[in-house]
Parts: sequence; C-alpha cells; structure tokens
Amino acid sequence: MIREWMTIVNHQRIAHQTYLMEIEGEIASMVETPGQFVHIQISDSFFLRRPVSIADVSPVKGTITILYKVLGEGTEALTTKLPGEKIDIVGPGGKGFPVDEVEKGHALLIGGGIGIPPLYYLAKQLKAKGHHITSVLGYRSEEDLFYVREFEELGEVRITTNDGSAGIKGFVTDALPDLNSVDCYFTCGPTVMLKNVKKELTGKPGYISIEERMGCGIGACFACVMETPCNSEKDYVKVCSDGPVFRPEEVIL
Ligand code: FES
Repeated sequence: MIREWMTIVNHQRIAHQTYLMEIEGEIASMVETPGQFVHIQISDSFFLRRPVSIADVSPVKGTITILYKVLGEGTEALTTKLPGEKIDIVGPGGKGFPVDEVEKGHALLIGGGIGIPPLYYLAKQLKAKGHHITSVLGYRSEEDLFYVREFEELGEVRITTNDGSAGIKGFVTDALPDLNSVDCYFTCGPTVMLKNVKKELTGKPGYISIEERMGCGIGACFACVMETPCNSEKDYVKVCSDGPVFRPEEVIL
C-alpha cells in the first residue's frame, strides 16, 4: 500500500448519483486481487479518507476505475473534480477475492447497489480463467442501473430492481439461477443482502465482501470489527485489513 497523487483521466456520471472515475498512477500496477479498495482524500475540508472499491484495472493504461455513489457532502465534493487534476490516494488496501484458488466452473456473482463495482473486475478475471459466469445485479430503480452491458459481455446477467422499473421486481435472491449448476458464489452489497444470500446459498463454497462496514480503511478506527463464530482462531476480524472478502463461515453477519 502506498500514498500517491494519482491523475484523473476520466470522470463522468453514469447513473443516478453514481459516478465513474478513472485514475492513473503506480497503484494500478499494485492491485493483486479483485475486491481490494483505495482510500481517497477528497480535499483538506474532509478529514477522513473514504474507502472505495476498485471496479476495474487497466494494466495497459496504468489506470484503475472506481465507481462511487453520492451519499453526502464528501462524495458530492468529489463530483467536482476534473480530468487532469490530481487526487490523493492510498492503496491498494485489503484482501480481495482469491481468484487463483477457485476451481474452474460456474461462478455466480451477486451484487447489490454500490457493492456491484468490485464484482466487475472479479468477473473479468474469472472469465479470463475460463469460468462460466452468471451475474445477478440488484438496483433500487431503473435510473440506478450501471455496468449492465459490461457484465453482459462476460456472461448471463439477471437484473432486479426494488420497484420493478427494470428486470425482476424484488431482491437479488428472487433472481437466482438453478443453484445445482453453481460451483462457487461471490457476493458484495448491503449487509442485509449478504445475510440473505448466505442463507440461500448455504452449503455452497463462496466469498462475501463486506464493504458496507468500512470506516477509516486502515485498521485505526475499529468501526469495521466483526464477530467471528466461536470455533474461530480470532475473536474478531477487521473488515479493512483482514477482509473485506471473507468465506461465509468466517464471520457473523
Ligand atoms: Fe477503521 Fe477498519 S475501517 S479499523
């Protein structure tokens, strides 16, 4: 993990309150696994850095892409940054999805809202290794949809929206494929979604990314501490440094 002033090369709104930022710098060559994140200093006016997951990496351009949602004054201020400006980044942080350890097969990716972006880089990596991919992507509404075409280029895609304005009305668990055909699942999104996914896929090998629980992102604030089952070696884990990706049996959601 290093601190670097990265250069913004692309910054655009891609859906309701959702922005894509592509940034160039050495950190791009240091990303080891999908699911890792960077830590952004928005400006001097905002004391805390914000952890944002890496949605894509281009080794050719030396860039990473992040997608973020405007959730308050900090992320609102981030939207004003222009291509050519530099941005203070620490990263890459955390332990991502261990793509190399997963046996080739049918991979089911389940993402909700701003938990979807890290699954895109994961899908690209899995596809490159010959996995068959089904992605179930849950959004609040049609205006929130992003990256659907990008996921469609990598496999089958099922969309859900809370209000039924696109895809299936309901939640990601309402749009799961035949689970007998699934070899391994990968999920990222709000904790309530992760709980339901974990329940539906009980017994299947899988990986859960718990980004929603992150605060400082560098192991300093304890905001991300999670309980572990009683048979674990550790009493608790820190999402930012032990994760954000865990096996379902490693944490109590
Ligand atoms: Fe602060 Fe993990 S987010 S310790």
